[in-house]
This record gives sequence, structure tokens and C-alpha cells, in this order.
Amino acid sequence: MLLLANAEAWAGFATSVDLLKKGDTSLDAMVAGIAKVEQEEKVRSVGYGGWPNMLGRMEFDAGVMDGTTREVGAVGAVPDTIPVARLALEVMRRLPHVMLTGDGARRFATEIGMPHDETLLDDSRRVWWERLEKELSPEDIRRFPDIPLAPLSRTITDPERVRDTTVFLCADPARGIHAATSTSGWAWKYPGRLGDSPIPGAGFYADSRYGAAACTHTGEMTMRCGTARTIVLALKLGYSLRDAVQLAVDELADLTDGFLAGVVIHAVDAKGGHEVVNFRCEGEIRFWFWEDGMAEPELRPAREL
Ligand code: GLY
Repeated sequence: MLLLANAEAWAGFATSVDLLKKGDTSLDAMVAGIAKVEQEEKVRSVGYGGWPNMLGRMEFDAGVMDGTTREVGAVGAVPDTIPVARLALEVMRRLPHVMLTGDGARRFATEIGMPHDETLLDDSRRVWWERLEKELSPEDIRRFPDIPLAPLSRTITDPERVRDTTVFLCADPARGIHAATSTSGWAWKYPGRLGDSPIPGAGFYADSRYGAAACTHTGEMTMRCGTARTIVLALKLGYSLRDAVQLAVDELADLTDGFLAGVVIHAVDAKGGHEVVNFRCEGEIRFWFWEDGMAEPELRPAREL
């Protein structure tokens, strides 16, 4: 068995490993680990620690995929709800649908007993307004929020400039291959913006016969390229894992217009292989890795392209 997650998973990775060792299903173990990440205020791109949208509201995205049945559950732009990856899993298990968004997702959360949660930290509210205020005229400040937001949508991003996420992949010969994601999305995003984390085929995809992939950073690129699905389909077509990831990277590199920045691809195959590559993200990218026989999870460097 193998578990892989991006560096932001530090707050919950060990929880997932422990639950896998105890025999929990892969998705339950990953979602429980992600819940810890969502609760950790120091992780500034997921859950309580994340940054709000342009109106100062937290909107969360999450997705899960069972690679054996290829069932998917996803939620997008859902307010006031943690743990949100758990909500995505409940969509998969309880509904005939794949994805709920916004108020509908919040309504479903209430129906299954998940309380409204105050997810905007005081510090996040302060930084949100400080950064927004700098971009506004005195008249805009007076009229806010009844002003056009679109002109602001390229000017502000998170202090960390990462558009990050947490992604977990689990591969096991007996249990299959599964994926789970969660994010608060692009900071100061336009309200209702979805990133790639709830979009099957873009931010995540799993097929127990071949492998799985999940992406962090710029969802605006992986959604245009269908990055996670590209990798798993390439594995089906006989590509090696490294070549499958390279094919997806080449597709990203072919984009010349629109919003362009970095992407990190995490991928596993059904032969026990794994690849994490950094395509144009600044700074050192690392990931968490654990497999049977390892006493402790390890934080390893991604391959730079
Ligand atoms: N990859 C996270 C996002 O684009 O929201």
C-alpha cells in the first residue's frame, strides 16, 4: 500500500496512515486526514486557514474518487462548511449526483447533520480587507460590496501566491486506487469561482486498473487541459507513469493565452510507481510519501521540470 499527498498535508498525513494501517477504507482514511488539514489554521490554502473570496466569504471546493467503481463526489463554492472533503464523500455515497455547489451543497450539509461553521478567521478577515481596500477608491469603499468585482479579479492573490490545495492519493493492490482533494481555492477569487479540486479529470482522477493523479496550484490551467484524466488515460494506452505525466505537462506547456502560472502534478500507477513534478511553481516543492514497510512518512522533493 502507498499513500502520497502534497506538503500541505503535514497536519493530517499521519492520521491517514494510522487509519489505513487499522483497516479503514482508503477514502475514509484520506478524508479523515484531510479533515485535520482543514482544521489546521497554519495551512493557508485549505479549510479554516484558507483565504476568503473577494466578498470576504470562505468558499470551499473538494472532491473524492473511488477508482474501483469510478464513482465521484464533489462540492464547489460551498460556504460555512468543514470538513468539506467529508461532504464530497457523502455526496458520492448518498446522492445519485456527482457534484453540488454553493447553497445546494450547504443545504445538503445541513440535511446530513453538518453544522454551519464560522470559517473566516479574524486574521484572515483583517488581511482580506487590508488588501482589498488598497485597490478601491473612496467611492468604491463607500459602496462596497455593490461595485463591479471583475476589474479586481487580476490584482489580488494570496500572500503566499500559491493557489494551493491538499491532495491525497492512495494505491493498494487489494483496495484499489483512490483520490481526495480539498481547498479554499484562489484567495480573493471572484465569488462562485471553482478551481480544479472539485473537477474530476482536471484536479483529480482515479482508476484502480491504471493509476491516479491529482493537481495543486493553478486550477485555471488543469481545467483547460483535463490534466488528471490525461495521465490516467495515457496509462491505459500503455505509457509509462513518467511518460504519462510528461504528456500532461506538454499539454500545459502548449497553453499560450489566458491565465498561466505553475502546476504540481501528483500521480501513482497500478504497478506501485509514483511521480510528483513541479511545472513552473516557484520555490522547492515537496510531498509526503508512505508505503508499507516504512516506519514513518517521509517528506520528499518533487522532480523539477
Ligand atoms: N488548485 C486549486 C485551485 O485552483 O483552486
